[in-house]
Amino acid sequence: MIRTDLQFADVAQALEEGFSQTPKRLPSWLFYDETGDKIFQAIMHMPEYYLTTCEYEILQMNKGKLLCHFKAVQSPFNLIELGAGDGLKSEILLKHFTEARAEFIYSPIDVSETVLQQLVGRLQHSVPRLSINPINKRYDEAIELLQQDEFRKIFLFMGANIGNFNVKEATKFVSSTSKSMSPGDQLLIGFDLKKDPRLIQAAYDDPHGITRDFNLNLLVRLNRELGAQFQLDQFHHYPYYDPETGMTKSYLVSLKNQDVYFEACDKVVHFNRWEIIHTEVSQKYDMPMIDELASRAGLEVVDAFFDCKHYFCDVLFKK
Ligand code: AVI
Repeated sequence: MIRTDLQFADVAQALEEGFSQTPKRLPSWLFYDETGDKIFQAIMHMPEYYLTTCEYEILQMNKGKLLCHFKAVQSPFNLIELGAGDGLKSEILLKHFTEARAEFIYSPIDVSETVLQQLVGRLQHSVPRLSINPINKRYDEAIELLQQDEFRKIFLFMGANIGNFNVKEATKFVSSTSKSMSPGDQLLIGFDLKKDPRLIQAAYDDPHGITRDFNLNLLVRLNRELGAQFQLDQFHHYPYYDPETGMTKSYLVSLKNQDVYFEACDKVVHFNRWEIIHTEVSQKYDMPMIDELASRAGLEVVDAFFDCKHYFCDVLFKK
């Protein structure tokens, strides 16, 4: 991938802001470089990471019902996917909607041009009759752009991506999406639900070490992009699920007192022994929390779809 100056500046700024806080932090968008994307694909194939299988099941079982909801208003719609990624889950819907001759276009939004190109290339083969309008922008910019669109808007925000915001941030995000919605528009969000804490813990602390590598890849990225000198074996991956708040927090823990030099910024960052870097939030929800989120964002729950174990839920909202 081509590294632009903007990306370099973004990473440097994330570091500057994150490491000046207590505890030190890194934003979770930093996970998704080329290697991070690949490791995340591997995470989604792990038996411990139940989220992906559950959401596939939900979409497979409910694609017909979802289309009925989306077609409730008799006009063509724009299916706008926020953070489309590999699009494998949406493909279940896209195939069904196309076979059912629904009148719609698909607008996947992603900040990564590479991800979008791969997605479009694949869908042109797997769903040849699909009209695709890929948008290579940030969500807020893309939503703004789509305001002028004549079609009804159906937003998809799947894959438990909402969980990577804390509840306050999620409320802000859903509220701003809601503001861009008109009557007849809908929003489908995938939530990972609270469940046996051991199952959640295992999803983020797998025995294969894949999630550990995903977390440590942040340091690999800083070494490569900012000339940092992190020694990977001097940090441990530590995820922690708190059943009281429903929040999984992932950390990198410094195993010793150490100074890390960043060549690109010509600065040294000190880590005490057992000091943490907070790298990710993966918030789990229950139905009262989802209802609360809807009411704060000025939305109404239309329907909720569960997998057979009730581990995961895709909720459809309307204005
Ligand atoms: C992308 N996101 C919903 C994943 C999650 O479950 O928070 C990222 C992830 N982090 C560790 N494993 C998966």
